[in-house]
Amino acid sequence: MKIVVVYKSITGFTRKYAEWITEELNADIFKREEVSVDKLFEYDTVIYGGCLHAAGITGVNIIKKNLVQLKDKNIIVFVTGASPFKEGLIDEIRGKNFKERERKNIKLYYFRGGFDFNKLNLTNKIIMTLFKWKLQSIRNKTPDEKEMLAAYEHPVDFTKRENIKELINYVNSLM
Ligand SMILES: Cc1cc2nc3c(=O)[nH]c(=O)nc-3n(C[C@H](O)[C@H](O)[C@H](O)COP(=O)(O)O)c2cc1C
Repeated sequence: MKIVVVYKSITGFTRKYAEWITEELNADIFKREEVSVDKLFEYDTVIYGGCLHAAGITGVNIIKKNLVQLKDKNIIVFVTGASPFKEGLIDEIRGKNFKERERKNIKLYYFRGGFDFNKLNLTNKIIMTLFKWKLQSIRNKTPDEKEMLAAYEHPVDFTKRENIKELINYVNSLM
């Protein structure tokens, strides 16, 4: 089975997961910017990784816009975010990113990434500064909100190779 991993990563957390998955599955790997959909037709299984930006999955349109042409492929999407995993998060992400008819063809995973403000580009720095101000204005902050605020001062990396286990087992079950 030919497997490809395509990813979009700005600060490196999604890239790390993409590289681990590639190693485990002996797949080919491309940055989102390097491939067009034609390349994906060469594979049986397409794994796409993006990061959460205001609940949206960056770069996932390459999958969404081409679902008809990719209908015979196994399609897996993984998402990284700064927030911890919580019950219902996958359904939330699925609901915000995929229409009803798109959902049944896509297997979705969430892996906790990290946060590194200094590695963001200017636009994202501005957006995240606005978000920081919003967090600062909250009176009774939750532990997660406090942790997020602290991460602006000291970058945090929650990536763990073991997080990809379930995805790897799923792909292996397809062979
Ligand atoms: C503009 C922006 C919006 C973000 N929105 C979310 C979000 O809604 N939920 C979340 O968990 N993390 C959010 N994050 C954090 C990133 O998803 C997280 O840092 C991710 O692991 C980055 O992946 P990368 O290093 O591959 O770019 C946001 C980051 C930026 C810059």
